[in-house]
Amino acid sequence: MTHLRYLTAGESHGRQLTAILEGCPAGLAVSRARIDRELARRQHGYGRGDRQSIESDRVDIVGGVRYGQTTGAPVALVVANRDASNWGDVLSVDQPLDAARAEPVLIPRPGHADLGGALLYERNDIRDVIERASARETAARVACGVVARLLLEALGCVVASHVVSIGDVRSDAALTLEAVADVERDPCRCGDSAAGARMRAAIDAAREAGDTLGGVIEVIAFGYPPGVGTYVQGDLRLSARLAAAVMSVPAMKGVEIGLGFAAAGLPGSQVQDPLGYEDGRGYVRAGNRSGGVEGGISTGAPIVVRAAMKPIATLANPLASVELGTHEPVASRYERADVCAVPAAGIVLEAVVALALADAALERFGGATVADVIGAVEAYRARTRLR
Ligand SMILES: Cc1cc2nc3c(=O)[nH]c(=O)nc-3n(C[C@H](O)[C@H](O)[C@H](O)COP(=O)(O)O)c2cc1C
Repeated sequence: MTHLRYLTAGESHGRQLTAILEGCPAGLAVSRARIDRELARRQHGYGRGDRQSIESDRVDIVGGVRYGQTTGAPVALVVANRDASNWGDVLSVDQPLDAARAEPVLIPRPGHADLGGALLYERNDIRDVIERASARETAARVACGVVARLLLEALGCVVASHVVSIGDVRSDAALTLEAVADVERDPCRCGDSAAGARMRAAIDAAREAGDTLGGVIEVIAFGYPPGVGTYVQGDLRLSARLAAAVMSVPAMKGVEIGLGFAAAGLPGSQVQDPLGYEDGRGYVRAGNRSGGVEGGISTGAPIVVRAAMKPIATLANPLASVELGTHEPVASRYERADVCAVPAAGIVLEAVVALALADAALERFGGATVADVIGAVEAYRARTRLR
């Protein structure tokens, strides 16, 4: 990230998550209510664990916004962990008395960051790893993502998502702007309510079996301006930035843009989008099999990104593990967890995609104020329509 960058800090059961987002132009209307709405969307979704009922996330904006608008200063956001009060001294910053010291966590969960983190940071207590590797951190990114979404909305771009599959249950519903309300109503965030019901049944069966499920989520950015990104350096390709954003979310194991993996098995005539020209509209493409990016540059068609999420690593019916230190074989540890977080992950993916798209748009059309950015996009759209 170059123009709109963010950092988050804080532990899963610590006092709070903290985020700083730098590079947002001045004059963007931002409200706590809008951020809270997105935080609530992340907490819902079928298959989540009990923590989501203990907490109801709320943001505090502690910098960069005055009288409801960004000032150009870094936007600083805080999301309190309401559950922290139940954790006593477990995450104490100061040395606790020996009697108050928490039992160390010594059994790594296969597929989680537990073992890798304990070896990387040479920690004798996996608690030090879990607390930061936990997807709780994504709440801070969802909060930052709202600022990016609002900036994109000022440019006429809306970012939405839906669940395409959970386990082996697939939906063939297409995501359109009109379908967004139906997706939001479905507990699995699936546009096809019959498939959504089958997804819920699959999650219930996995819960019953002490198992977990993953799935595929599609994120679409409607109305993103053309001409963003470039082919001149690999890391500046819009497709590379989108893929990095998706893969930055825990548990994401695959990413596709447009036809994605399906393109590899089709002849070129069924993959490329034929070109045309229409008076008033300028150059047009007959379809959007590219997913809105060609040559690393946005085409002006919807940006279509899909992510494959693996099943949750924490299993109620645990896999084999080994105790740190003693190296004894043991059953893995269970700690309160989601059975399926695919519906919730869609909101996180919307946030990181929005952040990547807003960053790239600011690189191309950036200015000190939102009006500068809107003006630059409109001028570019008008120029390219005529050429
Ligand atoms: C929204 C969301 C919720 C998650 N909830 C859990 C959970 O409750 N338990 C768990 O073990 N992993 C959960 N994960 C996945 C882990 O964070 C992830 O698997 C872990 O950090 C290891 O990283 P990796 O899977 O990318 O290798 C969740 C991920 C997301 C995006």
